[in-house]
Amino acid sequence: MDFRIKDFSEYQRTYQKSVEHPEGFWSEIAGYFNWHKKWDQVLQWNFREPDVKWFAGGKLNITENCLDRHAETNPDKIAFYWEPNEVNGQSRVFTYAELLQEVNKTANMLKSLGIKKGDRICLYLPMIPELAFAVLACARIGAVHSVVFAGFSARSLADRIIDGQCKMVITSDELLRGPKKVELKGIVDEAMQECPMVKTCLVYKHTGAAIDMNDRDIWWHRAIEGMSDQCQAEVMDSEDTLFILYTSGSTGKPKGVLHTCAGYMVYTAYSFTNVFQYQQGDVYWCTADIGWITGHSYIVYGPLLCGATSVMYEGTPAHPDAGRAWDIVDKYKVNIFYTAPTAIRALEACDIDLVRKHDLSTLRTLGTVGEPINEEAWHWYHKEVGHGNCPIVDTWWQTETGGIMISALSGITKLKPTFATLPLPGIQPIIVDDKGNEIKGNNVEGNLCINFPWPGMIRTTYGDHERCRLNYFDRFKDRYFTGDGCRRDEDGYYRITGRVDDVINVSGHRFGTAEIEDAIDEHEITVESAVVGYPHEIKGQGICAFVICHPHDKANDLLKEEISEIVRKMIGPIATPDKIFLVDGLPKTRSGKIMRRILRKIASGEKEGMGDISTLLDPGVVEAIIEKAGI
Ligand code: WT7
Repeated sequence: MDFRIKDFSEYQRTYQKSVEHPEGFWSEIAGYFNWHKKWDQVLQWNFREPDVKWFAGGKLNITENCLDRHAETNPDKIAFYWEPNEVNGQSRVFTYAELLQEVNKTANMLKSLGIKKGDRICLYLPMIPELAFAVLACARIGAVHSVVFAGFSARSLADRIIDGQCKMVITSDELLRGPKKVELKGIVDEAMQECPMVKTCLVYKHTGAAIDMNDRDIWWHRAIEGMSDQCQAEVMDSEDTLFILYTSGSTGKPKGVLHTCAGYMVYTAYSFTNVFQYQQGDVYWCTADIGWITGHSYIVYGPLLCGATSVMYEGTPAHPDAGRAWDIVDKYKVNIFYTAPTAIRALEACDIDLVRKHDLSTLRTLGTVGEPINEEAWHWYHKEVGHGNCPIVDTWWQTETGGIMISALSGITKLKPTFATLPLPGIQPIIVDDKGNEIKGNNVEGNLCINFPWPGMIRTTYGDHERCRLNYFDRFKDRYFTGDGCRRDEDGYYRITGRVDDVINVSGHRFGTAEIEDAIDEHEITVESAVVGYPHEIKGQGICAFVICHPHDKANDLLKEEISEIVRKMIGPIATPDKIFLVDGLPKTRSGKIMRRILRKIASGEKEGMGDISTLLDPGVVEAIIEKAGI
């Protein structure tokens, strides 16, 4: 698929064309894929409903583009190297021909268990090859996958299964991640008690731990016995649902972001090729988990669509020590390495010899995603990992955008540390003030919106279209609102400054403050709580909770532990608060709104510069909180 941009002037020309003739531009890109029937219309849209259709009338199956095409022309090319969590574990390798067979067997197994086009299947699995097989098997037969990151609690899992009305759950006995072992099946059992709509729970034997098998449970290895490795792909409409993936917003309840087949396919392949400048023969490694959008778009779909060779790793980059990530780079001769700033900062905090003793000379391109990268970490990454000669692509995008939106193209766009730089072709960013007026020109700052549809964009939030409209298309009329603030500098480069809504980004994971507050408020002893983010050295942002309790005689430490525990139980360990302050009051305005900026100051250890607090119902509350916080 030769739509790779080769130099900066080509980028400029392509960008120009993509804005002037979006339909012509995208139809040309779409022409590189295999279709059962070409589309009737490239784009139909309005952002009021919103109603966006790309390549309407087209017929295709994304897995034929990911697998069959390469299995025919290049069957022995490696699709995945799989590296286990344990250093001495057995690694696995899959060529395109083998991956196609595995996916077909898995697809036939799902069919034999009664799964049909349109059925939702929840995947709650470790980072093992079977997760990729299951994702692709769903896509093969037109079932809708809803992958839930296997760090979420039983409660969160159940909420997502119920919201998606999933007919099946696929899980494994246990999960290994770094030094941790998690009894996944036990968590699923707990969730299943609330999920009568689930007819089957398919269980992959991963560690071999003893687990209970209940009425609805079936072993993967039994169910797959005798399945054919041929499976005709379901012919899908361009706008048929490919998957849903839950993400947090500023309200308490996570929403199922829905992506469709054709646009997502075209956009992930196009962005993968161009941002990373992937060329045949390169080995690419993205350290994300398939449970997040990064894993969907840039471990599974994007790389496979482009016939790439990837590393898929089960564990964490610093297990058993911070040399592991670099060991893997060395072992598989990785050329392109894509990770999150939080991982970079964690690796940076360890002994530098763990980096320096490895041969990293194969690396050509480095990437980051998920949160703003700080200047210091950027330079460390550039110098110690890239040895000063690997471009760093700082890729800005979201679950809702499906693929990378603003990023340098590796080796093509001139870099500026901490800047995502320039939009990809087809992407029209716009900065608006709080009233929605466009802020033109350079050296400006404001709310980041996107002014025109792109093929990979969200189509709806599952089961609640109005919510999609309100969340993304209502605040600024006729524009998609990202929820991020950004600056455009004198060169027209974009720097994302972080969320402007009540969403916090912890180690690249998104949580609504309301979501964590709802969890804390579940504790019988709590009256009210307010959660804010604050700068955290490794995680980017830490979670700080201010909690008011009913009268009690519990020791503070015990109470704080109980509050942490309820968050772990309601959401998952990844949302555990870093700081909890037990307070007697919260800074509220006369209309009852919590002034979070004050809490954010206190959470970051500041007691000066609170700004105007005269609009508070009780300005004295600020002093009282500062005292409780012990600053
Ligand atoms: C939010 C999206 C995109 C996959 C991982 C996260 C923040 C993402 C960057 C970046 C600054 C970034 C934004 C965005 N974000 N990438 N390169 N620089 N901020 O996906 O969970 O949907 O979160 O992550 O705030 O809105 P997500």
